[in-house]
Amino acid sequence: MYIAFSTCVALALINTSQGMVKSHADNHRNITMKTLASFIAGIPKAELHLHLEGTLEPEMMIATGKRNGISLPWPDATAARKAYNFNSLQSFLDIYYQATAVLITEEDFYDLTIAYLKKAASQNVRHVELFFDPQSHTARGVGFETVLCGIERAFVEANNSFNISTKLIMCILRHLSEKEGMEVLEKALAWKPWIAGIGLDSSEQGNPPKKFRMLFDRAHQEGFFTVAHAGEEGDAASVKEALDTLHISRIDHGVHCMEDEKLVTELVNKQIPLTVCPLSNVRLKVFRNMSEHNLKLMLQKGLCVTINSDDPAYFGGYINENYLEAAEALDLDHHDIIKLAQNSFAAASLSAVHKQLYLKEIECYARQQIN
Ligand code: ADE
Ligand code: ZN
Repeated sequence: MYIAFSTCVALALINTSQGMVKSHADNHRNITMKTLASFIAGIPKAELHLHLEGTLEPEMMIATGKRNGISLPWPDATAARKAYNFNSLQSFLDIYYQATAVLITEEDFYDLTIAYLKKAASQNVRHVELFFDPQSHTARGVGFETVLCGIERAFVEANNSFNISTKLIMCILRHLSEKEGMEVLEKALAWKPWIAGIGLDSSEQGNPPKKFRMLFDRAHQEGFFTVAHAGEEGDAASVKEALDTLHISRIDHGVHCMEDEKLVTELVNKQIPLTVCPLSNVRLKVFRNMSEHNLKLMLQKGLCVTINSDDPAYFGGYINENYLEAAEALDLDHHDIIKLAQNSFAAASLSAVHKQLYLKEIECYARQQIN
């Protein structure tokens, strides 16, 4: 396979407007990055690691806070954005839970969900598995059904109007007790047709996977698909523990698995997917910068890696920006992008038939773009 549009490159050295001499190699790189950006924008993809509450853009947060009479520590969206300067997962979560407090009515959850799905569809996301944190709402007196009805209404509308399929994954907050998690799981049973999976998120440090062993056993008995955040700030042992004690089908983040060669072999052999979130990892200082991210190494090892946006309103980009910034910093090419998009459907909680349909879309797209 050869990328036709990357051949349109001048052979000579060119003078830039600043009068500096730019090498042919630099120019070639600029042209190919531009074409790679449009290739990324157009490729059909799935988003598998996305927190609904993490899509609350500062403008919507301020407006919703005003509408509901909730005071916030920031006077406006600009001030909020300035405060989004994180040095760890916890420093982010502290702000994220404060902002989440503006969400009260069914309309708020509908508005938030539909805004994200519209954005995702505009970036050629064809399937979304969306996380939500009910405990961060029910603890403030918001009804479980209020949250679910708002999300579900947006799902139905997006399925019909935006050419996008959706699934909902209910996350358990790991900084709370297993008993509190069990209570929300019991509530979810009455809403089973709307909830596909159970996940585990929030502060990884001090809250190991094994704390939720019974809860995940119960989730499996009830037929839920399961995932868990592990190896984001935690080490490879945390990833191994999540696999062995929670028996999950997918690891969220998991970047620290690379510290354990034996674990990597196991993840490769079993093709357990890892939902990596490059911009999140840089903004939360898991890596010092994007060029130090281990995503490319993970791909080279044969891991089933996917790219996702985690909390795009806080980390500076939605899914296409995550693909593009990783591609620029790590020198990913069109073949890597195709593999990442294929992985995103292979890793989804979809039937084999649905996966095949989406994989076919990628094949057609790649054939159109590449000769
Ligand atoms: N909740 C929202 N974003 C999260 C993340 N990156 N890690 C853990 N919990 C989260
Ligand atoms: Zn996450």
